[in-house]
Amino acid sequence: MRVLTGIKPTGRPHLGNYLGSIRPAVALSKERETFLFIADLHALTTIRDATELRELVCDVAATWLACGLDPERTVFYRQSDVPEISELNWILACYTGQGLLDRAHAYKAARDTGEEVNVGLYTYPVLMSADILAFDSTHVPVGQDQKQHLEICRDIATRFNHYHGEVLTVPEPIIDDHVAVIPGLDGRKMSKSYGNTIPLFFERQGVKKKIMSIVSDSTPLEEPKDPDSSLVYQLYSMMAPTDRAAEMADKLRAGGYGWGHAKKELVALFHELFEERAKTYDRLMANRGELEEVFAAGAQRARAQAADTLDRVKKALGLL
Ligand code: TRP
Repeated sequence: MRVLTGIKPTGRPHLGNYLGSIRPAVALSKERETFLFIADLHALTTIRDATELRELVCDVAATWLACGLDPERTVFYRQSDVPEISELNWILACYTGQGLLDRAHAYKAARDTGEEVNVGLYTYPVLMSADILAFDSTHVPVGQDQKQHLEICRDIATRFNHYHGEVLTVPEPIIDDHVAVIPGLDGRKMSKSYGNTIPLFFERQGVKKKIMSIVSDSTPLEEPKDPDSSLVYQLYSMMAPTDRAAEMADKLRAGGYGWGHAKKELVALFHELFEERAKTYDRLMANRGELEEVFAAGAQRARAQAADTLDRVKKALGLL
């Protein structure tokens, strides 16, 4: 079993990213062989500013490392450092029916909302397939939004194998349907595009104020409260170990414990989880040489693997 995931660096990582993807992926990396990379080539479909891209790539990498990703254990790399992926991308494009891409939700959504549709966006699923197939990944954890991309990848690999035999490994999705949506400060899904995020490290100075200003109902302090009615408890229960979450739920139900108290505990828990990690993050962001070393070592390991696959593919095609 080999698990692979990519992270598109299009925003500063926030608490929703931590709970929804960083924490589970770091946990999984302790049990399985994992490949994890920063999909900077995918970010090129939208990002046009060099400084912005560089900052986002470093921020995402520093955040993952600060949150416990061990680059010795996980093959951790930057997509653009592995040219074999781009080479495979072209080959796979020749095995991708146009109809398959015409049906892709991501490109259709952009087209329908009048956003720029460049060919990179249109062929996004092909590059993503190259990401996955270059490493003989057997399992890819994906959210609902990426499910279709994985189906496209499976289609492409199957079609290639139909002509050339079992050359490519057809991956399985790991779809975690029961992961809860992480709510943002306004109760909607926490997302950069809603402007309702709690930052992890970058601009974290405002976190306390953001949490303290979460709107809560006006049940008097002494009255019992329904924990699940409030965003404060929802976030707390997603961040805290089960027994601690249950403790807060009991206090809320018992009465005599207000939302203000709960918010303070949420702020304290946030600091408990991220204060030490923020120091690592700050160090990595201030010293880019250290990050570059991590990327260089990861690229070396990743390239060795991808070169193997590419070699197999080229032989099958008659290119070698
Ligand atoms: N498309 C994914 C996203 O937007 C990122 C990604 C790129 C990816 N290549 C991948 C995810 C390969 C899994 C496997 O979130």
